[in-house]
Amino acid sequence: MKFFGLKTRIIIGEGSLRYVQSIARNYERVMVLSSKSMRIHGFLNEVMDYVEEAGAEVDAIEGLPAEPDYEDVEELIPRVKAFSPDLLIALGGGSVIDITKAVKVFYDAPELSFEEVAFFSRFTKPVKVIPKLKTPLVAIPSTSGAGSEVSAASVLRKDGVKYNLVSYEIAPEYAILDPRLPRTMPEDVARNSGLDVLVHGIEAYTTNATTPFSDAMAIKAIKTVFKWLPLSVKGDEKARENVHYAATMAGIAFLNARLGMCHSMSHKAAWIAPHGLLNAIFLPYVIEFNMKSEYARKKYAEIAREVGFNTAEELIEVVKEFNEMLGVPALNKVVNEDIFLLKLDEMADMAYADPLISFNPVEPSVGDIKELYRKAYYAE
Ligand SMILES: [Fe+2]
Repeated sequence: MKFFGLKTRIIIGEGSLRYVQSIARNYERVMVLSSKSMRIHGFLNEVMDYVEEAGAEVDAIEGLPAEPDYEDVEELIPRVKAFSPDLLIALGGGSVIDITKAVKVFYDAPELSFEEVAFFSRFTKPVKVIPKLKTPLVAIPSTSGAGSEVSAASVLRKDGVKYNLVSYEIAPEYAILDPRLPRTMPEDVARNSGLDVLVHGIEAYTTNATTPFSDAMAIKAIKTVFKWLPLSVKGDEKARENVHYAATMAGIAFLNARLGMCHSMSHKAAWIAPHGLLNAIFLPYVIEFNMKSEYARKKYAEIAREVGFNTAEELIEVVKEFNEMLGVPALNKVVNEDIFLLKLDEMADMAYADPLISFNPVEPSVGDIKELYRKAYYAE
């Protein structure tokens, strides 16, 4: 028996941001947590206007950090409590949505401590389950990658370690996908986040938790990225829109089928480069490793056929060529060899313990992961 679900109601299309007004009509006090760029591009003001037109009071916190720490959440909570909203809106990239999910947890359940509900290892379960939370969350992504607008997870750092909060309680009630927002992304953000979508699709299609329903979402996302990401990076409006929707489709796929070792490896190498870029670098090596599973090899070949090829081996070549076309650098061009080798053992140990390894089609050893990091570094 397997499950597939989606909690989030998705609102799609040019100008769909105005749906904020319809939602806000049912609430009295609405707090918007926003990135600075969404204020600069005028979307924060637009959202606040919609809330006021709906007759609700509105307050905003802007300038949320790109790599959120739990300390950032601790800082935000008193400001959120002082306004006491009955609706939260996250307006920005994946980090803004993740931080707002965490704010929701500790605003609605102040008795909880971070240590009780967060975890970073598949071998240690959190002490407490996140209880029923009351404040609804509207997620409005401005980048096209993380899938946080539909996912049940929030990733936050504490003392340099990335922790996960995972619960359907933090999956947003609404996701508004207005393509005007991702059109503001700089080229490198469009590329890196789009590559993350590709890896979400490929990993979600090949875990040990897939269903025909998650497969459908994953395949559509993969095909969209291969077809449209190069144009999207250049700023083509239609391409930006297509990749934006693909990001959410991939989010729906991994919300259900989860992700695999490529994400475990890039999470633990997060100090080196942006998440999507690391995923793109590690992906061909992870596919090659996972091909020892008949199941994974068959699924990779299915992906290859969907994009006009035949075998898992060809998919590796397609991914490598795609990376090259988009200017993805070799790992040895972005991090110094001595520093990388110094950190290698620790990264491999931590990636081995990462919760997503449990969903990878092949259980690796610490040594396997170390070898994959090494191969990726020397581009072997
Ligand atoms: Fe990702």
